[in-house]
Amino acid sequence: MAVPCVAVPRERGETARQSLIEADALAEAYEIDVENGTIYIPVDPAAVPEGLHDALTERELPHRNQQTTPADLLDTEPSIERLGDIVILDEDDLDQARKIAQAVMDSDLPCETVLNRASPIEGELRVREWDILAGSETETVHREYGYGYVLDVADVFFSPRLATERRIVTERVQQGEHVFDMFAGVGPFAIPAADRGADVVACDLNERAIAYLEENARRNDVAGRVEARQGDVRDISAEWAGWADRIVMNLPHSADEFLETAVRLAGDDCTIHYYDITDTAAPFTPGETAIEETAAEYTVSFTDQRMVRSYAPGQQNIRIDARLQRDTWLTMIVRNPIRWGHQRLPELWPTHDTGRFPGRSCRPVPARCKTFRLWEPSAHRRPSPSVTTLSGSKHSECLFPLSGKTW
Ligand SMILES: C[S@@+](CC[C@H](N)C(=O)[O-])C[C@H]1O[C@@H](n2cnc3c(N)ncnc32)[C@H](O)[C@@H]1O
Repeated sequence: MAVPCVAVPRERGETARQSLIEADALAEAYEIDVENGTIYIPVDPAAVPEGLHDALTERELPHRNQQTTPADLLDTEPSIERLGDIVILDEDDLDQARKIAQAVMDSDLPCETVLNRASPIEGELRVREWDILAGSETETVHREYGYGYVLDVADVFFSPRLATERRIVTERVQQGEHVFDMFAGVGPFAIPAADRGADVVACDLNERAIAYLEENARRNDVAGRVEARQGDVRDISAEWAGWADRIVMNLPHSADEFLETAVRLAGDDCTIHYYDITDTAAPFTPGETAIEETAAEYTVSFTDQRMVRSYAPGQQNIRIDARLQRDTWLTMIVRNPIRWGHQRLPELWPTHDTGRFPGRSCRPVPARCKTFRLWEPSAHRRPSPSVTTLSGSKHSECLFPLSGKTW
């Protein structure tokens, strides 16, 4: 029988599958099929997220091998979430919750424990209470985009619904970047970022989360690139002032209280991924205003906005990406400027800061400053307008603005 499915190129299969899981749109009664580089994922078409509407089609797909699903036993599809071998319910009616838990355990779903949400996510550590309906173990290993995360849901925050969001952000990380994850949890941003070649500092207030993060870094072979720190990020940030090229701020209810810390961590050109929960018609405005006000010493541009998910009736979880750039002046020594015209300048290097940013050590010359025109004093030419001072002929000092200019 032809069943509704989403057809995507094989390399996009895992991304599509994750967003279908998050939207509760996967039709688990059928097998996934692959043919000629296209993967066919069975779905409930009504639940398919907008981004995959164009990929909707129909195809003959085999039933899963005589597997009994909870729906088979309940005659209705229960709303469940899976985290490793734990099944999570969100049922207000405890009798109904028990019935679903029993069906889950009697089905062929690989599951050791069934939990029901017993409180909202609360407190500084962002954890919740659970009712244990079946099994006893609250620690599990959850897989997300090829990474394994061991965690205990009773002790730490973790939401499998953020898988796509984390993927979108971490795919932007470049080799060699300095990434600071201010609210790292068990590492689902930090570990993929490190795997892409970034040096990562990952901080969390929750001791248990940091212990899991360290274990997860080892598990995923990135321990050498992740420095995990337990504590309040406001106390820890001084050590990394001016260090970060990218900052993740995934503490949506109170991220604005930590903006000053983020700005302290930011280097001269830094992207901040700022999460917020808003209920206004212009959901990005409060965050953007707060960022602009706090980062007044930078040129701020907003490079992306995303509605991550609906958080509660009338409330949205959103992300704002803000790029902070600072016009920086470095003192440079110019050797033998006389014979230089347009050419590469291997002899040009930053020496020390100008005193405007005390304590800042020298950085490599940014790529965009590699070639530019120099004044040749012997020819009595005028200095290029961007050269503020230039004197002497052998070893000269000059000031170059390093950003916001075309050389
Ligand atoms: C919403 S969770 C996000 C965890 C992780 N980024 C993820 O996606 O799973 C926020 C985390 O921030 C941590 N946290 C809260 N206040 C903090 C603070 N002042 N300094 C550092 N971490 C903090 C909590 O312990 C929690 O693990």
